[in-house]
Amino acid sequence: MENVTVVDHPLVAHKITLLRDAETESAAFRSLCQEVTLLTAYEALRTLPVRSVPVTTPITTTQSPMLAGPAPAIVGILRAGLVMVEAILTLVPHGRVGHLGLYRDPVTHRPVEYYKKLPENLEKRTVLLVDPMLATGGSAVHALDVLYDAGARNVDMLAIVGCPEGVAAVHEKYPATQITLAALDERLNENAYIVPGLGDAGDRIYGTK
Ligand code: PRP
Ligand code: URA
Repeated sequence: MENVTVVDHPLVAHKITLLRDAETESAAFRSLCQEVTLLTAYEALRTLPVRSVPVTTPITTTQSPMLAGPAPAIVGILRAGLVMVEAILTLVPHGRVGHLGLYRDPVTHRPVEYYKKLPENLEKRTVLLVDPMLATGGSAVHALDVLYDAGARNVDMLAIVGCPEGVAAVHEKYPATQITLAALDERLNENAYIVPGLGDAGDRIYGTK
């Protein structure tokens, strides 16, 4: 699949198996989501711009790369994307954070927006959209619409589990979006849940069911 990276690493695979396990309790589930985010963000943020700066080591002076340009924007889709945002901020502490509140209507499975707060000057920033689940892709496409309307010029996406239907929906409207996943699952079921998947990520992270 073009513009899709599925991170292939034993640590990621191991943690995804623990996330899939219906017996994994909320606290462990939340922490595993953060760990998988850290491991996969490494790949998703590979295109961050750098510039060479002089640095004096205890031995000599040399040129060495540092992140360049305005701080990247990390935009989380609430609720479940929140834990991913917090994990990425440990890697990119100067990042600016956007929140987009969306929930799926239980009947239509279409996203309903209830909150939006985005960083300024999105057009100058690298923007990474994060949400653990890419299912029908409705939430991701809605979020990308909002981000491009707000001026973003290049938005990448990081999810923990995706499926072909979600990837196709995103790429039908935004073919250049780079999607990084920890797992690409088989399909959606009749309730628009990912199979085999891990269930409802928000409910499992926050223990609401
Ligand atoms: C989940 C998930 C995504 C969305 C994915 O959120 O975190 O945002 O579903 O589904 P889609 O690709 O079909 O749009 P949910 O709507 O359950 O809200 P929550 O995070 O508040 O639990
Ligand atoms: N949202 C989830 O949390 N899980 C799915 O499998 C699909 C949508």
